[in-house]
Amino acid sequence: MMNEEQTNIYELHNITKTFGEKKIISSLSINFKRNELVAIIGPSGAGKTTLLNILANVIQPNGGQILLDQKPVQNYKNSKIYAKKVGIIHQQFDLVGKLAVINNVLAGRFNEWNLGKSLLSLIIPQDKKIALNALERVGMKAFTNEKTENLSGGEQQRVAIARILVQNPEIVLADEPVSALDPARADDILELLTTIAKTEKKTFVAVIHSIGLARKYFDRIIAMKDGMVVFDLPANKVTDDELANLYKIEGQTENE
Ligand SMILES: Nc1ncnc2c1ncn2[C@@H]1O[C@H](COP(=O)(O)OP(=O)(O)O)[C@@H](O)[C@H]1O
Ligand SMILES: [Mg+2]
Repeated sequence: MMNEEQTNIYELHNITKTFGEKKIISSLSINFKRNELVAIIGPSGAGKTTLLNILANVIQPNGGQILLDQKPVQNYKNSKIYAKKVGIIHQQFDLVGKLAVINNVLAGRFNEWNLGKSLLSLIIPQDKKIALNALERVGMKAFTNEKTENLSGGEQQRVAIARILVQNPEIVLADEPVSALDPARADDILELLTTIAKTEKKTFVAVIHSIGLARKYFDRIIAMKDGMVVFDLPANKVTDDELANLYKIEGQTENE
């Protein structure tokens, strides 16, 4: 029998993405293993967000093929089925500020509900137990009935994590999930996210701005520049020279 841990959850073959004339992603081929914690790093404009949106099926590539759990992504026609596979956490949390915390967390269930039940949930929280349990896990149960916009950035990011726990996808994608937070909060939140990913056996792929945090919390670091992979290494094998080269401004020479 094949070992579940060793199987590829994503296989990307020669993915390209152009916007107008501009090639943003150039024949990218990467595999992601089930349960892996992967940080994507690289200078701004490298194509990191575009790659994450391709993995989330929000953006379709112009060329190449993506297998999700050995099947072409196009086979997952239904967005509800896709939401069981893949969830995404954005940099700005995208919660509805005017709603109570509990209702934002319950939005993670929308993919399992029909519209009527989704709207009803704004008044009578459904599946409340699951949501309360998620809030407890992220240390936010005391904020259940608070208006979300009154929370700090770090608290809102915890609510966004509770929402993902309720959605409960196999793969969690996150685009700079801690860039908006101060360093101590950023460390706390990444520790929480990676602990959850490990205990719940999820695959976690995150764009991470801080090299220190990428090294501390992830198994593998993929560095991107100009839509290509510059290196793809176990986190503890990434050298300072490789990092200096990654962030070097073109036109500068080593000996200046
Ligand atoms: N919808 C779009 N239309 C045109 N150009 C885009 C679009 N999205 C991203 N780009 C361009 O693609 C490049 C990579 O963007 P992005 O994936 O956001 O990079 P990163 O997240 O690494 O900073 C940038 O030059 C950006 O301007
Ligand atoms: Mg980005």
